[in-house]
Amino acid sequence: MSRIPLISGNWKMNLNHFEAIQLVQKLSYELRNHDYESVEVSVHPPFTNIRSIQTVIDADRMKFQLGAQNCHAEASGAFTGDVSPAMLQKLDVDYVIVGHSERRAFSGETNELVAAKASSVFAHSMIPIVCVGEMLEQRENGEAEEIVEAQVRGSLADLSKDQLSEVVIAYEPVWAIGTGQTASADDAQAMCCYIRTVVGSIHGPAQTKVRIQYGGSVNGSNAAELMAMEDIDGALVGGASLEAAAFARIVSFQEV
Ligand code: 13P
Repeated sequence: MSRIPLISGNWKMNLNHFEAIQLVQKLSYELRNHDYESVEVSVHPPFTNIRSIQTVIDADRMKFQLGAQNCHAEASGAFTGDVSPAMLQKLDVDYVIVGHSERRAFSGETNELVAAKASSVFAHSMIPIVCVGEMLEQRENGEAEEIVEAQVRGSLADLSKDQLSEVVIAYEPVWAIGTGQTASADDAQAMCCYIRTVVGSIHGPAQTKVRIQYGGSVNGSNAAELMAMEDIDGALVGGASLEAAAFARIVSFQEV
């Protein structure tokens, strides 16, 4: 059974399109062909940069997968300020992050909405990266598994059996995001293993196929230990993905 790890750079609300082009060029320069042999690497710029990055990836034949950070569930309509999955599909986007904890917290996204977005992303021939993760208080109260299980079940509720094998889940404990406080490799492994079991209980064959990333203060120093864990199939990286050398270190640690 082989799951290809996916290392994703979530640039969040950073970089204008000129800066974004520079970053992807630097990153491409830092990485060697063999770095991509055993991993997929996706970059997730803000919407305003996606077209620029798509053009650079195409022109320079870079090996990055193109990603987005969010989308609307509907293909078109009167949703001022939103971006549809159909528009992203037209830009050759491969992966769309849905249900990031920042969107759950600041934009009130519910599991139901995340489920609709995930389904719509698949319907437009892209793959959703569905984010889940508990808050610090929930972990301290011993509720982490219960909370994450409810997010997984709720956020995957609209997917078909085949899609459950193809979806990417990102386990991002909220207390580890942007804090420099990474989950220990053992804790991250334990939760990713639990998530895999939950997916297996929905559709057995998906258990060994679904890819589960860890996210939350991943950097070049802790990536190798996290990625060595049996049930962790890559990383969703925020801050460290904004520096080409740091992100390249995370990607190349896969070989260790
Ligand atoms: P940091 O890597 O900055 O902690 O962010 C993680 C994250 O939210 C990625 O989606």
